[in-house]
Amino acid sequence: MSAEFPAARPRRLRRNPVMRRMVAGTRLHPAELILPAFVKEGISDPQPVSSMPGVFQHTRDSLRKAAHEAAEAGVGGLILFGIPAVKDARGSAADDPEGILQQALRDVNAEVGDALVVMADTCLDEFTDHGHCGLLTESGEVDNDATLERYASIAVAQARAGSQMVAPSGMMDGQVGVIRAALDEAGFQDLPIMGYTAKFASAFFGPFREAAECAPQFGDRSSHQQDPAGPLGDSLREVRLDLAEGADIVMVKPAMSYLDIIRQFRDTVDVPVAAYQVSGEYAMIEAAAANGWIDRDRMIMESLLGIRRAGADLILTYWATEVARRL
Ligand code: PBG
Repeated sequence: MSAEFPAARPRRLRRNPVMRRMVAGTRLHPAELILPAFVKEGISDPQPVSSMPGVFQHTRDSLRKAAHEAAEAGVGGLILFGIPAVKDARGSAADDPEGILQQALRDVNAEVGDALVVMADTCLDEFTDHGHCGLLTESGEVDNDATLERYASIAVAQARAGSQMVAPSGMMDGQVGVIRAALDEAGFQDLPIMGYTAKFASAFFGPFREAAECAPQFGDRSSHQQDPAGPLGDSLREVRLDLAEGADIVMVKPAMSYLDIIRQFRDTVDVPVAAYQVSGEYAMIEAAAANGWIDRDRMIMESLLGIRRAGADLILTYWATEVARRL
């Protein structure tokens, strides 16, 4: 004990579980969790994703079951990714009213749309044969403005299929504004947009590309996703633009390597801040746990608490249902 501060004993508030529970400054609630889920056209059984143990490419039926489980656990939202049977250069299945994602949105929204927020990832990479998030120019670059027209059409198709929120993830300049205008024009003035606002060109997306079958066939996404070593104001610039264009929720992605950006957003903006604990973050913990190197359950909770404490109001995590049950 220090003679100088005889009364200062921080341990008093850590003494036992009831004390710690009462004074906890960071709490997780199931409603703040959003479950990302994959649905694939033309399969008869759910397919395990080898780099993400416990995650599946769903059939329409198994997706419904997973959606019910999430709803029963109190999860706040579900974000759907579709994998079509046929891909082409313009990602035609992405805005086809009978495309797999639209079918799945209708199914899930009809069954659990009252219990949780059903949303769609609004992008092209799952639907294009080249795996890029947009249309390509002749020289193979992602064409920003031509892609925006596709995004607008996809967002409207998703809204018509019952999506309660759309989430553009392609990092094209102007994507939120174009989608906002298209939704308004189509009568969906009340449908919110969650922008993937600060999204970095990240190696942590690796396992997702297996899950969503969307690895670029050549090149990478560094011409549009943010550089992890990029200008320090880059994310603030993105968030200013997204808010000006009408974003209702802004997201940081990945989460754990970008906790500073989450905090920066929380201190700057007046809308909810979401963070996406991405596939590589999931895979690292599952892989280490499978080797017996870490305490899986504690590490999952600690990772989520860290993201929450950094300032995230919402967390997208593949563990959403499991964690919601545990809370
Ligand atoms: C793009 C998209 C990606 C993720 C979500 N939306 C992949 C990418 O940008 O390459 C990654 C999610 C994850 O890694 O869990 N549609």
